[in-house]
Amino acid sequence: MKAERIKVTVGVCGGIAAYKSVELVRLLQDAGYDPHVVMTAAAEKFVTPLTFAAISGHRVITSLWSEEAGTGSAEEDPEAEHSSVEHIQAAQSTRLLVVAPATANMLAKFAHGLADDFLSTMYLATTAPVIVAPAMNVNMWEHPAVQANVATLRARGVKVIEPGSGYLACGMVGGGRLAEPASIVTAVAEMLAEDARDDAGQQGRRDFTGEVVLVTAGGTREPIDPVRYIGNRSSGRMGYAVAEAAMRRGARVVLISAPTTLPCPAGIEVEQVVSVEDMRAAVMAQLNEATVVVMAAAVSDYRVKDVADRKMKRDGAQAISLELAGTVDILREVVGRRRDGTLVVGFAAETEDAIANGRGKLERKGVDAVVVNDVSKEGIGFDSEQNAGSFLTKDGMVEFPVMSKAEMAERILDEVLKLRVGTAH
Ligand code: CTP
Repeated sequence: MKAERIKVTVGVCGGIAAYKSVELVRLLQDAGYDPHVVMTAAAEKFVTPLTFAAISGHRVITSLWSEEAGTGSAEEDPEAEHSSVEHIQAAQSTRLLVVAPATANMLAKFAHGLADDFLSTMYLATTAPVIVAPAMNVNMWEHPAVQANVATLRARGVKVIEPGSGYLACGMVGGGRLAEPASIVTAVAEMLAEDARDDAGQQGRRDFTGEVVLVTAGGTREPIDPVRYIGNRSSGRMGYAVAEAAMRRGARVVLISAPTTLPCPAGIEVEQVVSVEDMRAAVMAQLNEATVVVMAAAVSDYRVKDVADRKMKRDGAQAISLELAGTVDILREVVGRRRDGTLVVGFAAETEDAIANGRGKLERKGVDAVVVNDVSKEGIGFDSEQNAGSFLTKDGMVEFPVMSKAEMAERILDEVLKLRVGTAH
């Protein structure tokens, strides 16, 4: 049986960027969604409904009034949406509403609850998540009236995809350009995943009940002298996200955290550590209890051999060298000492040959899985809210496209559960 595709409604407003929505609809289709299009009257001045109908394979809604309500394909179910409450039907059946381009006028209507056309009426009638991708002249975008409306929508949970900078149709250069269709599709995927997670949360998915999950997070610090250290750029977000997700899903969670700026998550036992040796001691003390170990911490491979007990003083412009000694590989030790049935997941932050290096670590360290991140890519990985990567196991690989770290944490746990099924625990 063919899986049913997810219905996503694309609202198109009247702006030069409306032509880019054609590409957006096509990309949504390529990504496996079922896009339906709603156009404002002004949008029809830029692109014809027929274009969208041909690409989406569905009738395009252009008006609140059914006799002039659209242009579409022959295959469309005639009774489904031809009624005086079509906007209610459309609003209830869509899983997400994405408006691109969103004009200043439409943002104002959304923010103030005006409902004088199909799109603004549908916005009020839907409980599905909403994304807006504004596009307009830079002065309009920066106008306090528009920014106030955007802030209102954000506060209401609408996701706003900031316009980019560049050459604008009005001849000016600046902010106001519609975000690239590909990044709008990414936002759609993310928002749908978040929504599914919220649903699961409400249904109280407790599939980690009975598990004790030991997580390491953050970047260790190796002292040079009393005020300086060797550290790294890990923010700790990925590990904290795994810890929080496991806790929500019913696990008892112990988080061993190297320094981060993140608040201690409620409901989780957190142990703060600084150096590799501290982290090792804390992990080993908890290992016997753990049924799953996720080592997301960025652990220093070296430490300073002779740590100065006083602050080192500068000697003019004289170069100095620090002698470094290797640190213990905590992950390897965990694998060697774990109880039978304890699953161990490592992380690998790579800047080149990510998959090959990840596979190497999987084998060398003897772990059950390695989450590989390519940290050379901008906007993901270190110091970022987002991540992407691959979950490598002995027999396979699952790709994680760009997503929030919270979402990636859920996906990692989903994969861990699949491994659990394969082991007798
Ligand atoms: N790790 C560890 N102890 C160390 C170094 C790393 O437990 N001393 C763990 C990390 O928490 C991570 C995994 O090993 O889960 C891989 O870390 P990474 O720094 O990518 O691997 P290394 O073995 O240090 O390899 P390299 O630095 O050569 O890439």
